[in-house]
Amino acid sequence: MSDNSSSTLAIPEVGSIPKHVAVIMDGNGRWARNKLLPRIAGHRKGTDAVRALVKGAIDLGIPYVTLFAFSSENWRRPAEEVSMLMQLFITVLKKEINRLHRNNIRLKVIGDISQFDLPLQDLIRSSEQLTQDNTQLTLTIAANYGGRWDILQAMNALLKAEPNKEDKMITENDLMPYLSMGDLPEPDLFIRTGGEKRISNFLLWQLAYTELFFTDTLWPDFNEVNLREAVLSYQSRERRFGRTSEQVIQTSWPSVSTAI
Ligand code: IPE
Ligand code: IPE
Ligand code: MG
Repeated sequence: MSDNSSSTLAIPEVGSIPKHVAVIMDGNGRWARNKLLPRIAGHRKGTDAVRALVKGAIDLGIPYVTLFAFSSENWRRPAEEVSMLMQLFITVLKKEINRLHRNNIRLKVIGDISQFDLPLQDLIRSSEQLTQDNTQLTLTIAANYGGRWDILQAMNALLKAEPNKEDKMITENDLMPYLSMGDLPEPDLFIRTGGEKRISNFLLWQLAYTELFFTDTLWPDFNEVNLREAVLSYQSRERRFGRTSEQVIQTSWPSVSTAI
């Protein structure tokens, strides 16, 4: 098989800052339970951690951050929690959108938002529109998102747009523009808080060669120091994308590493 049969990308310099960090923000419920509070208090506190993460990412010069806010499986939670999460999403979006815009942050939402109430869908669209030309950081929120859904919606969209593909072999490059984050670089670093070591149907396609970082810290406690710890761990990894270590050292040894 030829090398260009796989989408996986050029090797970033060892020690560089990740361009794209994707996060499963897990542990809100346990954070609240530990404090004898209702689960929603953990979700509320989790929004402060989002603010800290965005600030930390800007300080470190990370241009893309993607956050898992609500999975396609989270509908299985008690109706009351789902409805409070939706309400929280609306409240936070309304409260923060102008601040995001002032800070030159582009907001993007990925996932099947057609399942949300119309006012929330409208709010998402207007927030995306308002911030679409901002350049400091692209903040992508995955809401009613599932990795399997993403691959299937991309395939269906491709076949709809290019019906003549149906009887041909479809390549990665054909499919990629139709994936939810087809216009963004693939994540370099994945962080999951809350101690679980699983992907939970997050970015299945895009995480193919992402460096994984798991921490027991519960999401509401996650702060800039924890982000730096994850980035430092990332910087110590040698990304090989299938090559040998010798090849990687020859082709990508940096002149100066980006210290943080
Ligand atoms: C993650 O925290 C937030 C969402 C899934 C919306 P959890 O609510 O899953 O917290 P734990 O895992 O129960 O502690
Ligand atoms: C994953 O967390 C989804 C989000 C953080 C939004 P969950 O807490 O729902 O994951 P599982 O079901 O325990 O794997
Ligand atoms: Mg959880």
